[in-house]
Amino acid sequence: MKSKIMAVAVALGLALGLGMGSASVSAEDLKGLRGAAVNTPDKAPETFRVQDGVKLERAYRQQPPLVPHTTDKYEIDLKVNQCLRCHEWPYSDQEKAPKISDLHYLDRNGVRQDTVNGNRYVCTQCHVSQVDAKPLVENKFQPAAINR
Ligand code: HEC
Ligand code: HEC
Repeated sequence: MKSKIMAVAVALGLALGLGMGSASVSAEDLKGLRGAAVNTPDKAPETFRVQDGVKLERAYRQQPPLVPHTTDKYEIDLKVNQCLRCHEWPYSDQEKAPKISDLHYLDRNGVRQDTVNGNRYVCTQCHVSQVDAKPLVENKFQPAAINR
């Protein structure tokens, strides 16, 4: 109990110290996660354009194909999965959209189900829209086929 009171007192002291711009720590000295002082005005993050209609090749055999259209308007929750409205048979034929593969119907024991299995229900967990984003860090990644 005593140590708790001490901790609160120390925290309060620190907060007051900072609030009054104490000599030891000023806002310029405090660096945020982005590496700049916390009071530096922030730039709005860059937005990326979805590469609609372009088909980027897969970089390795097991890769979930990238989505060649925007997906932000399609709802996925317990009751609704709007991706299925185009990608599940028979809608896939009507919408001329690629049919989700049979692997999406296997449960975790490999048993085939009649509906998309829960482990592949949240489509955007694996399939993301193609965007014109630059790599976050410099890297030497090469598609698997090129390395062979
Ligand atoms: C209105 C119909 C429609 C909806 C809804 C839709 N798609 Fe598509 N999707 C298509 C069509 C059509 C294509 C074929 C490529 C094209 O012309 O854009 C496609 C292509 C794809 C592909 C590429 C498949 C391949 O073999 O390369 C993926 C992956 C995909 N969609 C995922 C999704 C996901 C995930 C959602 C939900 C967030 C979704 N789609 C919602 C119509 C739709
Ligand atoms: C756990 C990851 C995962 C999830 C979740 C997932 N997929 Fe896939 N998907 C894959 C992989 C991997 C492939 C490529 C291999 C295969 O066919 O399974 C694929 C392939 C596809 C294809 C291309 C099929 C073809 O024959 O070209 C479509 C379309 C697709 N998925 C749509 C969806 C939709 C719609 C959902 C949501 C209902 C979904 N996926 C959920 C991993 C996933």
